[in-house]
Amino acid sequence: MSHVPVMLKEAVTALDLIAGKRIVDCTFGAGGYSREILKTPDVFLLGLDRDPVVQVEADRLVKTSSPRFSFYQTAFSNLEEVLQQHGWGKIDGIVLDVGVSSMQIDQNLRGFSFMRDGPLDMRMSQSGVSAADVVNQLPERELSWIFKILGEEKRSRRAAEAIGARREIESITSTGQLAQLLEQALGPKKGRIHPATKVFQALRIYVNDELGELSRLLLAAERVLSPSGRLVVVAFHSLEDRLVKNFLRLRSEAPSLGSRHAPVEERSVFQASFELQQRKVMLPSDSEVTENPRSRSARLRWASRTNAPAMSVVPVFAQMADITQLEARS
Ligand SMILES: C[S@@+](CC[C@H](N)C(=O)[O-])C[C@H]1O[C@@H](n2cnc3c(N)ncnc32)[C@H](O)[C@@H]1O
Repeated sequence: MSHVPVMLKEAVTALDLIAGKRIVDCTFGAGGYSREILKTPDVFLLGLDRDPVVQVEADRLVKTSSPRFSFYQTAFSNLEEVLQQHGWGKIDGIVLDVGVSSMQIDQNLRGFSFMRDGPLDMRMSQSGVSAADVVNQLPERELSWIFKILGEEKRSRRAAEAIGARREIESITSTGQLAQLLEQALGPKKGRIHPATKVFQALRIYVNDELGELSRLLLAAERVLSPSGRLVVVAFHSLEDRLVKNFLRLRSEAPSLGSRHAPVEERSVFQASFELQQRKVMLPSDSEVTENPRSRSARLRWASRTNAPAMSVVPVFAQMADITQLEARS
């Protein structure tokens, strides 16, 4: 499988591996992170991925590294169920590399890319609602909202209207068809950015519920990491990175005065559940970006779990709704 792992050394170093630790690689992909983690003797690792395509590579690693490595084909929001099934209680590290893998983006048949013509699919798990279902079935108003919020596309309404008009005539079933109609509706390519970029990003995030998955994983991480356990996240677009940044800030800093989500009594009893080890986001080195241009938008954030109890879910979600601007829907 050809996927060059991004910020590999930085991510694995942040896990602070020593013998006996239990780690979960939530985004196994081509196994780049997992193989690096397993180089530390006597570390135990679970790999998760919802894409069935990675099973072959995972089986290969199980063969060479069992019983230190096991794999579950599942969404990472199921982390707690997996840990229970595997007989693990608390764990010492979680790593996520939440981009699309090269195997996904480079395969026409997966339908992730406007650069390659293929079925309009985009489902990482290869099941459930596809991008074609979304584009052909959702009301124009909802499409416009998806493009605006999840793609940060300023011309979201124009894109949705163009889709609405085209599907009156024919179903939109291929990436090429969608890319072409967006180019017609939004104007030609500006510099290196294709006019379909943001709409395709929005559809991918929506189809795979990427922000929902990440929100649930962050909350689960708070519950399952043992004190000093590490949470390491590499994100590739600003919505995900913002979610991670704000979650870690929220759980590591006492709420400031004036926050509408934080009554005075809450501030006085605040206990940080994470300690930010590195306040500034980490970026790939210049040499990595030169060698692997796909790494250019990577953002790494990491923190250590404290021994404070996990936070109740509701206030966190209230904040997350703000973070992802989902309130803008109403
Ligand atoms: C960028 S790749 C990971 C590459 C991996 N770090 C490596 O070095 O080979 C991201 C992977 O995460 C998987 N993925 C994304 N979201 C997921 C989720 N919510 N649950 C499980 N797997 C997910 C994708 O299917 C993809 O295989």
